[in-house]
Amino acid sequence: MDKATSSVATQKPIIGGATKSAKSSGDRRSSFIVFCLLPTTLLLLGGIGQHVWHYGLPMSVAQLTTQLELHWLEGFALVPQPCSTDCRVHLIESIPVGLYQSSLWSKQSIADSWLHLLDKANSSVNIAAFYFTLRSSDSEFLDADDSQGRNVFEHLKQLESKGVNLQIAVNGPQSSTQDTVELAAAGAKVREVDLNAITGGIVHTKLWVVDQKHFYLGSANMDWRSLSQVKEVGLLVEDCSCLAQDAYRIFEVYWSIGGGTNGSLPPYWPARLSALSSSQNPLHVKFNGVPAQVYLSSAPPQISARGRSDDLSTILSVIGDAQKFVYISVMDYLPLSEFQEPLRFWSTIDTALRAAACTRGVQVRLMVSCWKHSPAPMFIFLQSLLVLNRPPLQCDINVKIFTVPSSAEQLEIPFARVNHAKFMVTDRVVYIGTSNWSENYFTHTAGVSLVVNQTGSEVGKGQQTLQSEAEELFLRDWRSQYASEVSLDSVQVSCRTV
Ligand SMILES: *[C@@H]1O[C@H](CO)[C@@H](O)[C@H](O)[C@H]1NC(C)=O
Ligand SMILES: *[C@@H]1O[C@H](CO)[C@@H](O)[C@H](O)[C@H]1NC(C)=O
Ligand SMILES: *[C@@H]1O[C@H](CO)[C@@H](O)[C@H](O)[C@H]1NC(C)=O
Ligand SMILES: *[C@@H]1O[C@H](CO)[C@@H](O)[C@H](O)[C@H]1NC(C)=O
Repeated sequence: MDKATSSVATQKPIIGGATKSAKSSGDRRSSFIVFCLLPTTLLLLGGIGQHVWHYGLPMSVAQLTTQLELHWLEGFALVPQPCSTDCRVHLIESIPVGLYQSSLWSKQSIADSWLHLLDKANSSVNIAAFYFTLRSSDSEFLDADDSQGRNVFEHLKQLESKGVNLQIAVNGPQSSTQDTVELAAAGAKVREVDLNAITGGIVHTKLWVVDQKHFYLGSANMDWRSLSQVKEVGLLVEDCSCLAQDAYRIFEVYWSIGGGTNGSLPPYWPARLSALSSSQNPLHVKFNGVPAQVYLSSAPPQISARGRSDDLSTILSVIGDAQKFVYISVMDYLPLSEFQEPLRFWSTIDTALRAAACTRGVQVRLMVSCWKHSPAPMFIFLQSLLVLNRPPLQCDINVKIFTVPSSAEQLEIPFARVNHAKFMVTDRVVYIGTSNWSENYFTHTAGVSLVVNQTGSEVGKGQQTLQSEAEELFLRDWRSQYASEVSLDSVQVSCRTV
C-alpha cells in the first residue's frame, strides 16, 4: 500500500512533471516559432521580396542564377578591384585635307592616337566597329591618300605576332570583308554582330579598348577616309583602367551577341557585364589632374547590361543640366523616326532644346553638317528651331551648317568631305558620342558615349578641363568660314558642296 501510494505518490509528480514538460515544450515550440522561425521566414520573405523588387521575378533557373550572381556581386563582393583613376585624356580629331590651316590643328590626330594605342598594347586590343575599310582598295583617287589608314591596318596586323590578342566585333553582315579577313588570317578573332536581326539596327559604335587600361571612343570609323577626308572628334583616354574596364564590358556585350545564335539576345546579361559607371553612379577619376565625374552610356536599351545609362537619357540630362549654354556639333539632326514605316515625328531632343532656350534662357547653338547625302527634311526642322529666335520670342537659339570644302577630285571620293563629329559641350559638361540625333540611333542602333563632368573641380595652373577644351574646339568651328547661318527666308533642301 505504502509501496502503492508511494509509487502513486512517486508517480504523481512524474505525471505532473510530464504535463508540465509537455506544456513547457509547447511554450518552447511557440517561442521557437516566435523568436526563430517567424523572423527567419520574414527575413527570407523580405529577402526574396527585396530580391524580386531589385532584380525582377526570375522566370527560369538560368535567370535565377544570373540574379543570384548579381545579388552576390552587388551585395557582398562590393570591394572594388584595384584600378587606376589617374587618367590622361586627349580630345582628338581628324581634320580633312584642305580644311583649316595647320595653326588651327591644335589637337592630336586620331590616326596618331590609334597608332599610339597600338604601340602601347601589351596584351589585348578590343575593337567595336561599324565597318573596316582602312585601305582604299576599290578605287584610286588622285587626291586621296590612304597611307594613314594603311599604317593603322599594318599595326593591327602585327599585333598577334607581338603576342597581343586582337578581338574585333564588327557590324554584320559586312559589305566589305577584305580588311577583317586579312586581319583574321593574321590571328585576329573577328565576330560579325548581326544587330539587325535583334533590334533592327546596326552596330554604329566606334570603340577601342587596349589592355583594359586605355580606350578610344568617338565618331571616326575604321575607315581611311575618317583619318584624312572626314572631320571627326574623339577621345583618347590612357592609364584609366577603372573606366577602360567599363568600356570593355560594353565591347563584351557586342562580342557575346556576335558569338550567339542568329537573332537572339541572351535572356539576361551576366553580372560581369553590369555597368561600372552610370549617370547615377559616375566614376570619380582625375582627367589630366583635374577631378572628374565620368560615365559611359550606350544605346539601344535592349543591349544594355544592368545599370548601364541609356544614351538618349544621357543627352537629355546633359541638356537639362546646362545653365548657360549648350553647344552641339552633330552630323545629322532629325526629329524623326527614320528607317521605319510610317515615318513619325519624334520630338524628344527637339523639345529639350526648345525648353532650354525658351524656358530656361540657355544659349543653344546647333551645328549640323552639309554634304550630298544630307536629308532634305533636316533643313526645315532646323528652320523651325531657328524661328524661335525671332521677336517677340527671341529665344537664344542659333543654327549653323558646316560644310567641308572640296576640290573637284575630292568630291569624287564617296562618303567623304563631311563633318562627322558628334559631341556636345555645355557650361558644365562635355558629351562625346557616336550617334546622329534621330530616333533610331537611340532605339535600334548600337552606339556609345562618354560624359565628363568637372563642374566645381579645382583647376590648377597649366591644367584645363575637358569641357573648356571642347568649348574651344566647338567655337573654332562655329566661328569659321565653313559654318554658315541657316536662313529663314529661303528653304534649303539640299547641300551644294563647294
Ligand atoms: C607587358 O606585359 C609584360 C608581361 O605580361 C609585363 O612584364 C610588362 O611590364 C608589360 N608592359 C607594360 C608596358 O605594361
Ligand atoms: C545566321 O544567319 C545567316 C543568314 O542570315 C547564316 O548564313 C548563318 O549561318 C547563321 N548563323 C548561325 C550561327 O546560325
Ligand atoms: C555634374 O556634377 C555636378 C556636381 O557634382 C552635379 O550637380 C551635376 O548634376 C552633374 N551634371 C551632369 C550632367 O551629370
Ligand atoms: C548618320 O551617320 C552615318 C555615319 O555615321 C551616315 O552615313 C548617315 O547618313 C547619317 N544620317 C542618318 C540620317 O542616318
